[in-house]
Amino acid sequence: MTANIGAPVDRVDGRLKVTGAATYSAEWPMPGVAHGFMVLSTIAKGRIRAIDVSRAGREPGVIAVMTSRNAPRLVTTGQAAGNDKAQMVLQSDEIVYDRQPVAVVLADTFERAQYAASLFTVHYDVEAPQTTFAMGTPYKPQAVHGQDADHQRGDAVSALAVAAVKVDNVYTTPIEHHNPMEPHATIARWDGDTLTVYDASQGVFGVRTRLAGMFGVAPENVRVISKYIGGGFGGKGSAWPHVILTAMAAKMIGRAVKIALWRPQMWGSVGYRSPTVQRVALGANADGTLVSTIHEVHSQTSQIDEFVESSGILTTMLYASPALLVTHRLTRLNVGTPTYMRAPGESSGSFALESAMDELAYAVQLDPIELRLRNYAETDQDAKLPFSSKSLRECYRAGADAFDWKRRTPAPGSMRDGRMLVGIGMAGATYPTNRSAASAVARIDAQGKAVVQSGGVDIGTGSYTAFSQVAADALGIPVEQITFGLGDTRMPNAPNAGGSQLTASVGSAVKLAALAARNKVAQLAIADANSPLFRAAPEAIAATGGRLFLQSDPARGETYAAIIARSGGTPVEGRADAKPGDEKKQYSMHAFGAQFAEVRVDPDLGTVRVVRQLGAFAAGRIINAKLARSQYIGGMTMGLGMALLEETRRDDRTGRVMTANLAEYLLPVHADVPATEAILVEEVDPHVNEIGVKGIGEIGIVGAAAAIANAVYHATGKRIRDLPITPDKLLV
Ligand code: MOS
Repeated sequence: MTANIGAPVDRVDGRLKVTGAATYSAEWPMPGVAHGFMVLSTIAKGRIRAIDVSRAGREPGVIAVMTSRNAPRLVTTGQAAGNDKAQMVLQSDEIVYDRQPVAVVLADTFERAQYAASLFTVHYDVEAPQTTFAMGTPYKPQAVHGQDADHQRGDAVSALAVAAVKVDNVYTTPIEHHNPMEPHATIARWDGDTLTVYDASQGVFGVRTRLAGMFGVAPENVRVISKYIGGGFGGKGSAWPHVILTAMAAKMIGRAVKIALWRPQMWGSVGYRSPTVQRVALGANADGTLVSTIHEVHSQTSQIDEFVESSGILTTMLYASPALLVTHRLTRLNVGTPTYMRAPGESSGSFALESAMDELAYAVQLDPIELRLRNYAETDQDAKLPFSSKSLRECYRAGADAFDWKRRTPAPGSMRDGRMLVGIGMAGATYPTNRSAASAVARIDAQGKAVVQSGGVDIGTGSYTAFSQVAADALGIPVEQITFGLGDTRMPNAPNAGGSQLTASVGSAVKLAALAARNKVAQLAIADANSPLFRAAPEAIAATGGRLFLQSDPARGETYAAIIARSGGTPVEGRADAKPGDEKKQYSMHAFGAQFAEVRVDPDLGTVRVVRQLGAFAAGRIINAKLARSQYIGGMTMGLGMALLEETRRDDRTGRVMTANLAEYLLPVHADVPATEAILVEEVDPHVNEIGVKGIGEIGIVGAAAAIANAVYHATGKRIRDLPITPDKLLV
């Protein structure tokens, strides 16, 4: 049953991708398509008084200019009335954030649209924007992950006051912007009342729902396709304004429209990670056991939508603490709406919590791993549930061994390499195991080949490959004989590829659909007097290599092709709807990991180089070791960026983004990324879902920045609580 699952199968779409044959959203051939280029506001608050389109409109190739004055009206009632309010583009003249779309220029080429857009004059009545936490009033959001924004057990404040040892500090993380290789892109075409959309999206069904609601058409009339996307990281988890604008423009001019964002527009209306201000206070006995944990999180949202950076959630369950207080507060500002960005909540929250744990380790003079073992949570104290499985001890051990943690001498500044300061640090990691309802269909044909489909999107992680492996094992058909289809609302329903949930959700459906198809073929054989499997018991039949046979007598059997051909040749289809049961009521389900980093810090220049990163992760069953390792080291690399490089700056006076390009918003490049390794700690979890996977897309970044910050402290004795750790902060 598990010949393919677990194997490091090469990407089934690898050849398509390296040869350029994989069709990304901007690349769909669309004769006569008009190119749209968004004009973005240059103020963060105020009103449009006038837009002068005359010059742009006279440029060669310009087809139309869409502004709030002539744009199609969107439906604001019914299903569009809720969250979609945030996407009501060009419906009024009010500006509530910098880089809000104010117009779309449509031309026959991208370059002509872009040039005409530069000729625009927009006259604004400017108002003073609210741009900093200090300018707003924090409020308690309605809910965080469907629960109260505050989590409490015992009296954490009193317990902290009398604790033998305390660390109580404020940690801050900056605005970070997703910058996948592929910027957002959408093509939309109307045929009467039917809308076809190619969109770089992490979830085609969510896009369909939003568009159907806003344009007042039935969801069945909207088809959304997202075959390949060049990275999403959460940024492509929503239908942002450009998606709506593309469909609006296509409607307005009566022809297909494409809007492909250019890189600077990635700092516009497409989400980002909220900055955070986080107080973490830990109270402990002299032996390091926690008596109180307080984590107060403050993040921001826009004037038009609510998104909470859930940084305190991991604190509720990662360590045992008899008393705990976790709070989340939000401030509304004149900013774009923040969104999910790889391990939303956990990545920024783990920087604060895991830095604080490191500070506590020094305060009680314990090895950081020993401190974590003394506070090991045997159960989830917040949910009051056992863990479905937890292999964090094994992660600490495997990681420490592989990293040679024991060569670290504890005192800050005690290790050197020539004139360079050497630092070694670690941090813990966790990410919840999520799952949503998903469906799949598997069809076996008279050649013994299978087509398996679900509408979920492969965001570049390798879902086509992983699902092919799941299907191959369930069907007993080689991976090469399986054609997997994803990313189309004409296929069975699937959730967003987000929250590390796609493999668990769709993989479970794929397994069930494949088993259903296989069982139907088995039934054909069982009922057929000419089959060697005539009158066999269904449960006695196994399948491998495209052949069904008796487990007890493998010689007795025949191929799928033979059975289906003899029964008339019609393909046999199995369908399945898979959904979570009540396992979440019985178990707390999480992946866990341990992160390690080694740095060299130049004592004169304050520059930090990461020389080694290692993570050990336990996330249930691993479908494909090669893909999993790529996810982990990708997450860790993003954590390196978070630790040392990434930061979007706004001018607090105007609310304008000052770093809207990859020259000033720094990302790790190859030369920044050292030897990075991930250890896949074996774990069997029978509770989480049909295929035993916990999800691996996000946990790789969790704790990665803290491990580096802790290594920097170990090297220098300087505790940087404000990311990113730039040289100026180390030279003070
Ligand atoms: Mo993820 S940040 O939920 O795509």
